[in-house]
Amino acid sequence: MRRPILAGNWKMNKGVAEAVDFVRTIRRGLNDIKGVDKVLCPPYTALAALRDPLAATDIGLGAQNMYWEEKGAYTGEISAPMLKELCQYVILGHSERRAHFNETDEAVNRKIKAALAHGLFPIVCVGETEAEYDAGQTQAVVGGQVRGCLAGLTAEQVAGLVLAYEPVWAIGTGKAATASGAGAVIGLTIRGTIAGLHSEDTAQAVRVQYGGSVNPANVAEYMTHPDIDGALVGGASLKGDFVELVRIAAEVTSI
Ligand code: PGA
Repeated sequence: MRRPILAGNWKMNKGVAEAVDFVRTIRRGLNDIKGVDKVLCPPYTALAALRDPLAATDIGLGAQNMYWEEKGAYTGEISAPMLKELCQYVILGHSERRAHFNETDEAVNRKIKAALAHGLFPIVCVGETEAEYDAGQTQAVVGGQVRGCLAGLTAEQVAGLVLAYEPVWAIGTGKAATASGAGAVIGLTIRGTIAGLHSEDTAQAVRVQYGGSVNPANVAEYMTHPDIDGALVGGASLKGDFVELVRIAAEVTSI
């Protein structure tokens, strides 16, 4: 049994004061929901301020990126040991980082290794662009990303990862993938690639979220698909109804 995991990716939204206010309004409701892992990923600047408000809850905290080196002359970067003091999770390889900051599978691979070496849980994002989807390249692109991002990891390390399948055309567009479409990519391409790299057991152990325009109205559809283990939520995680979204997810998966 894979435990579902719901994560909110706030992207570049909410300053420290707003983040703390927001978390005060949602933490009780989120904390009361059991049976699923819950993670909030604010901007770096809010991590330290959210550590205490979340300390007495079972709500996890995550960053949205990091650099693979531990310390040194890398102006503007933040390392795994620095994050480890503040949070438990880190989103790696989000398509916005790939598109705007030239992040490659090789860079994501280095970051995953650094995160694991310092005891952080990576949430590794993969997904094809609209042009790739239209050209029928989803399987090749996503399979290639999985191989590139997971290169050199042991089966045990892979089994403990969270992956997020986020088709770029579905992010922030309201044009969510269907659960059957996303589930097929996750089952056949993502788990299939991992089974080829390691074993079917490893492929079945790894948790894979869907991300892209998930909201309270469509989350149940994803959660009831046997290959989808949760959601990475952008826009809908910035508002109070994120609690409702997580509650629905927990309800449908407990049936
Ligand atoms: P969205 O973003 O839910 O706003 O589509 C998802 C993401 O980018 O992780």
